[in-house]
Amino acid sequence: MSDLLAFKSGRINQLALENRLVVAPMTRISASKTGVPGERMQRYYTRFAKGGFGAVITEGIYIDDEWSQTYDCQAGLINDEQVQGWRTITESLHMNGSKVIAQIQHSGALSQGNIYRSHTVAPSAIQPKGKQLEFYHGKGDYNVPLELSENNIQDIIRSFAVAASRAVNEAGFDGVEIHGANGYLLDQFFTDYTNQRSDHWGGDIASRLSLILEVIQAVRQSVGPSAVVGIRISQAKVNDFHHKWKEGKEGAEKVFSLLAISGVDYVHITEYEAWRPAFEDSPYSLVEIARNVAPKLIIIANGGTDDAEKADKVLKLGADYIAIGKSALANPDWPERVKSGKTLREFDSGILAPFADVKESELAQ
Ligand SMILES: Cc1cc2nc3c(=O)[nH]c(=O)nc-3n(C[C@H](O)[C@H](O)[C@H](O)COP(=O)(O)O)c2cc1C
Repeated sequence: MSDLLAFKSGRINQLALENRLVVAPMTRISASKTGVPGERMQRYYTRFAKGGFGAVITEGIYIDDEWSQTYDCQAGLINDEQVQGWRTITESLHMNGSKVIAQIQHSGALSQGNIYRSHTVAPSAIQPKGKQLEFYHGKGDYNVPLELSENNIQDIIRSFAVAASRAVNEAGFDGVEIHGANGYLLDQFFTDYTNQRSDHWGGDIASRLSLILEVIQAVRQSVGPSAVVGIRISQAKVNDFHHKWKEGKEGAEKVFSLLAISGVDYVHITEYEAWRPAFEDSPYSLVEIARNVAPKLIIIANGGTDDAEKADKVLKLGADYIAIGKSALANPDWPERVKSGKTLREFDSGILAPFADVKESELAQ
């Protein structure tokens, strides 16, 4: 089993990784009310390192005391107490042989729990599709957001940069992943129907991507050349599962070409199943489209790679790393289990409740 591609060591920027297996970012709403990660979160994260994952990408972390917080009991990275909480976690992961990347997130219109502000913001004042996620204590429709001003947007770019610097320079993270996916603020700017702006942040696909590019630049400047900086992008959203990029394959090629020269170390592509064709009129997955237009771009692929065969299939399509979500929740020791030929546990949605994790006694190590 260990001759699988997934078990080859790798490198992202200066970061040496034991294998190609990464824990996907997963919100667990298990910090304190004030966004401080505690000891249970430390135990939760440490199990992935002990279980053999080369790296862990954290749950989405909020970046300012304005509109970025998305969920009740979400962890932040904006004050010393929160930073200290994360520091304990990064130290524990490093001690157990895994690298750790902070996912930094701004909710925009999808906020459904914010201790700092009672209204939401977005590129345009358009009510989000769908309903708030009850699982994360939301209820009913999303609020109609206020449209962000140019000053607000500049503040948000700065907040991403400051949070990134805190993550790397104070909390001990090896890098940051900018959350540009799944319907949150940066994706709201990128998406045609949520971004109706007539200024330079709206318009064609390149203009709608420009906030993501600006945030990447600001974050890169604040963390320096050697810390890892990644960007996560997706077609689907938590409130619109079946969304497809309007510009299709050609638009995707534009996006990956621009991201390849943006200063990021990797692009994290998440699809429902990473190997499936991305658009109806083309046989190629997003991973293949990205690999084709950007041969040197490091790609982390996510979606449906529940077992080693699927993970290897996506690596063969051109991904460099595989991020595993639900199957990692069910198997925090996924790499160790696969290496030693043990069967992987089936994912059971009961495990999604905060702290309803697999019992320590059931882990491989
Ligand atoms: C409980 C849970 C929480 C999630 N939270 C986040 C998050 O904070 N940030 C993010 O980018 N994706 C988040 N996701 C999406 C996962 O990273 C991943 O894309 C999804 O689970 C599909 O991958 P899988 O098929 O390996 O599970 C979450 C998924 C789950 C199941």
